[in-house]
Amino acid sequence: MEKQILLLPGDGIGPEIIAETKRVLEEIARLYHHTFQFVEGRIGGDAIDATGSPLPEETLDLAKGSDAILLGAVGGPKWDGNAPEKRPEKGLLQIRKALGLYANLRPVRVLKPLMGASTLKEEVLADVDLLIVRELTGGLYFGEPRERRQINGEDGAVDTLLYTRGEIERIVHQAFQFARTRKKRVVSVDKANVLESSRLWREIADEVAREYPDVTLSHMLVDNAAMQLIRDPRQFDVIVTENLFGDILSDEASMITGSLGLLPSASMNTSKVGLFEPVHGSAPDIAGTGAANPLATILSAAMMLQYSFGLADEAKAIEVAVDRVLAQGVRTKDIAKASENAVSTTAITNAVMEALALK
Ligand code: NAI
Ligand code: MG
Repeated sequence: MEKQILLLPGDGIGPEIIAETKRVLEEIARLYHHTFQFVEGRIGGDAIDATGSPLPEETLDLAKGSDAILLGAVGGPKWDGNAPEKRPEKGLLQIRKALGLYANLRPVRVLKPLMGASTLKEEVLADVDLLIVRELTGGLYFGEPRERRQINGEDGAVDTLLYTRGEIERIVHQAFQFARTRKKRVVSVDKANVLESSRLWREIADEVAREYPDVTLSHMLVDNAAMQLIRDPRQFDVIVTENLFGDILSDEASMITGSLGLLPSASMNTSKVGLFEPVHGSAPDIAGTGAANPLATILSAAMMLQYSFGLADEAKAIEVAVDRVLAQGVRTKDIAKASENAVSTTAITNAVMEALALK
């Protein structure tokens, strides 16, 4: 398979974790006989310094000409005082919008060697492997009107929760398609007992489900879902939900693993061009020290192989290699216990590559 991958290192530890992840992808290409062509672009603070814009035209052109995008992280104290249009995060919002990336994917997989990192009990955590599919471009965060106004003679404010049939259909279809490559169970999360938009969401989810007789659909109210995620996360395979609910549930679910350095994510559109990035930020406090944990980015690259390129075996191979490395006790500082010796960004990547070569 031949693919062009755009690397957007960004700021802070971004360049370090992207360089290491590129080596892993090159190893996958070598072992499985693929050709990955890498191109590199600027985004975030790095792009502001070089061009004045957090998402230069050239970067957007490269993105549109690539099959997938791997991003490090953006932001840092240097740009904190900038005006809104000249802030690093703006680059991320702009690229998501320009590519129509409406589906945000956040997998939560508990890695056995690290079960102690979570505050949940081990019997609740064993075998957790779920995927949250969050609608990213609609709902309360984008609906108009959004404004301050006088309401009944006093200061008030309004936000609008708005969804169209097309917006709901496409995200629910994505969730069913991902479920087909997993345990074939979708839980659609809404608040249909109160919200009209949720009643439409539920109706459409039921309609879409008829096209996937091999996948089971159930519905859950969002308040219950928040509770079930902590009570028994193993019950979930794919969760699909609207923007606001997904924002909150995905952050909640990320704490099931207890480790920011291990959480990958993806944002995708219908043509399966995706932006893959770790959930964590640019960690300016450790940038340049060789201490950054590259595993969240390496696992994001695995998502890219699976969800953008359909290379499920290669993706699995990366996950297995990461599990094996952690089981061997190879840790960066963020996940090492006080008694363990922490290794560098490059050393843990070398260990992943060695584990990969074992197949
Ligand atoms: P952060 O995720 O960058 O760091 C939080 C803490 O976790 C820090 O102590 C950091 O050293 C540690 N950490 C994070 N990733 C790590 C890794 N891979 N290996 C080892 N340790 C790691 O969040 P923070 O400090 O709130 O934000 C720093 C900057 O990152 C800000 O400018 C923020 O706006 C930006 N940010 C960017 C995101 C993105 O690009 N998608 C997401 C979140 C924050
Ligand atoms: Mg959030």
